[in-house]
Amino acid sequence: MEQTITILGLESSCDDTAAAVVRADRSILSNIVMGQNDLHAGFGGVVPEIAARAHAERLDICAEAALKKAGITLAEIDAIAVTAGPGLIGGVMSGVMFAKGLAVGTGKPVIGVNHLAGHALTPRLTDGLAFPYLMLLVSGGHCQFLAVEAADKFHRLGGTIDDAPGEAFDKTARILGLGYPGGPLVESEAKKGDPARFKFPRPLLDRAGCDMSFSGLKTALRRASEAVVAEKSGLTKQDRADLCAGFQAAVSDVLAEKSRRAMAEFAARFDVTSFAVAGGVAANKTIGAALRQAAQAAGFRFSAPPLKLCTDNAAMIAWAGLERFQAGDFDDLTLAARPRWPLDSNAKPMLGSGKKGAKA
Ligand code: KG4
Ligand code: ZN
Repeated sequence: MEQTITILGLESSCDDTAAAVVRADRSILSNIVMGQNDLHAGFGGVVPEIAARAHAERLDICAEAALKKAGITLAEIDAIAVTAGPGLIGGVMSGVMFAKGLAVGTGKPVIGVNHLAGHALTPRLTDGLAFPYLMLLVSGGHCQFLAVEAADKFHRLGGTIDDAPGEAFDKTARILGLGYPGGPLVESEAKKGDPARFKFPRPLLDRAGCDMSFSGLKTALRRASEAVVAEKSGLTKQDRADLCAGFQAAVSDVLAEKSRRAMAEFAARFDVTSFAVAGGVAANKTIGAALRQAAQAAGFRFSAPPLKLCTDNAAMIAWAGLERFQAGDFDDLTLAARPRWPLDSNAKPMLGSGKKGAKA
């Protein structure tokens, strides 16, 4: 029987410690994610030092669990793929050091993967999507449209000039006292709310191109919330739900409209009609539906990874590593953590990989 390539993937760039085993036939033998929400919830956001410590403590447990679930041993792995950036430096270093240790111990090659490439290549793992395709990468730290031309060739068409949408969701949740992480909580409140009650802006729609801005939206949300509090000395459940629904509708409208423009630009350039989305915010059902509708209207095929593969995970890192492995492109023990690592090195630097910059 022909031996298929098997990769162990490791992810520790933000607040999830993850390990997964993936094969070249696109099968995911295991995909373990050990979250840290409990450790950071009290702070309303990720505390880098706490995250790094937790990664260092859990990476080996996580990797062992992934191998066990996959029913294989380290000896049967062809290579170890690890997120080498961008991300919170302590977490990325924990992962890179652990991966190098495994490489030395087993004699297997190590492959340093760009976390954003992991997200951007996910539709190839889930849907077998061919190059090139248009990708909207939308997460807690990033928001950008990319033409994905090859596993190592990305061209940025536009992105946020300030906050990333996930960051805005998290801040909205904090302003409204909903908890952390904000995205799923705001989404669940929004289900009970009226999106038309509060009129939120749709930033940068008046400007040509696919750049976006979300920081004004967050300020508008804060002002609207403060106005209700000043009037009624507090927020009712319905007020909160309406604020969430209005905010989510604004984000959704902006992403859908900018996607229309990005699709037009992409189709003109490549004569291909394939649009995929990835990153934590892609887990939002309202946003996902708006993007799907925009794609259908433009005659594009739309791919959205299942929820578990939208948010941070190691299966996407294993897959991105696998694509490098197949190209014979490995790292050695000089592999270093890169807290900042743009996918498109030719694109002019923007404020806009989200202010946090580190998260992806
Ligand atoms: O890609 P991801 O798992 O991690 C990084 O950003 O690195 O994305 C996490 C982000 C968080 O900001 C979270 O609030 C947001 O994705 N998110 C959502 C939803 N689920 C996660 N935002 C909106 N709606 C959701 N259902
Ligand atoms: Zn991410």
